[in-house]
Amino acid sequence: MGSRDHSLRIPRESPGLLFARHRAEIDAAIARVFDRGRFILGEEVAAFEAEFASYLGVRHVVGVASGTQALGFALRAAGIEPGDEVITVSMTFAATAIAIAEIGARPVFVDVDAKTRCMDPAALEAAIGPATAAILPVHLHGIPAPMDAIVAIAQRHGLALVEDCAQSHGAEIAGRRTGSFGDAAAFSFYPTKILGCAGDGGAVATNDAAIAERLRRLRHYGFDQAGQAIELGSNGRLDEIQAAILRVLLPKIDQQILRRRKLAAEYQHHLGEMPVGLPPAHDGAVYHQYAIAVEQRDSVRARLLNTHGVDTGIHYPVGVHEHPLFARREVALPVTERLVRQLLSLPISPEVAEGHIGDISSALSESIGACR
Ligand SMILES: Cc1ncc(COP(=O)(O)O)c(C=O)c1O
Repeated sequence: MGSRDHSLRIPRESPGLLFARHRAEIDAAIARVFDRGRFILGEEVAAFEAEFASYLGVRHVVGVASGTQALGFALRAAGIEPGDEVITVSMTFAATAIAIAEIGARPVFVDVDAKTRCMDPAALEAAIGPATAAILPVHLHGIPAPMDAIVAIAQRHGLALVEDCAQSHGAEIAGRRTGSFGDAAAFSFYPTKILGCAGDGGAVATNDAAIAERLRRLRHYGFDQAGQAIELGSNGRLDEIQAAILRVLLPKIDQQILRRRKLAAEYQHHLGEMPVGLPPAHDGAVYHQYAIAVEQRDSVRARLLNTHGVDTGIHYPVGVHEHPLFARREVALPVTERLVRQLLSLPISPEVAEGHIGDISSALSESIGACR
């Protein structure tokens, strides 16, 4: 161990700092909700849904209570039923698969491409079988999945397509935003996301009016217009206070994304000669995480924190197919299994990382050398 100078003291992320910067506007938005006295399904949720739909370039957005619920509702609204198979990746946050299982469907895990770290279209096509009903790709770390290939496969096989956009607000493929490629797309507004609220929240985006109508029913007990339950729904609504906060932050996310892209470019400049695997270069990426692949990852991580004061993250420590709940150890996903042991997320949130990329990179270089 080197000297514990903690010279940098860089946290991994800090959504509180972003909220603090816009605190006056957020306070005014919350006050507006209290003045009106309506807290559920009022003007703020309706306005946010319209504004986010316009931002994404889709016809409908339905606000829900979390990203996990957004996934489950999106799958059900796209016609997925208990017993159906949904092909997804294991290289994701476990909630992607939990949402599939929660609606009684079965997640089928396929490997990712080593370069994109997103669903490998060839593996996807090979996994399609008679019970396959849907494809659920994840735009991991804010890097768009290869949607051209995935959409073509979904169309060729007549499968539903739901995007997991929990990490990809604002990400683009040839000028088109993620969330506009499938039958529906799920977003999370967990506080650390590119667009986050001050608690839990989520949304589903779709161009299909019938899917949107079903989503509005599913989040509201399964009630029809007359307030009668016509299918099994839930209490899964985005609330007015969170919607009001999201309306403050939505107009600022393009600026946040530009700052993240600039930081990613700085990392690329500093890390280019180091023995690390860089995230794929993609013009439309939003860098929710900036994850490098590095040997001796856990030792490097410990040294970065203990010697240099740089906190980093691991997204994620194992593949979802390795979680006991899913117990798919018989499934071999070699790229996923390698990446989860190598990926290290460096600070990329502008509030904590701006002005520090050179120092973090030097600390990384020293740590890699010391851990060889
Ligand atoms: C890829 C992915 N899918 C789903 C979720 C679930 O979202 P939430 O935590 O809002 O339920 C998250 C984030 O938390 C995520 O990163």
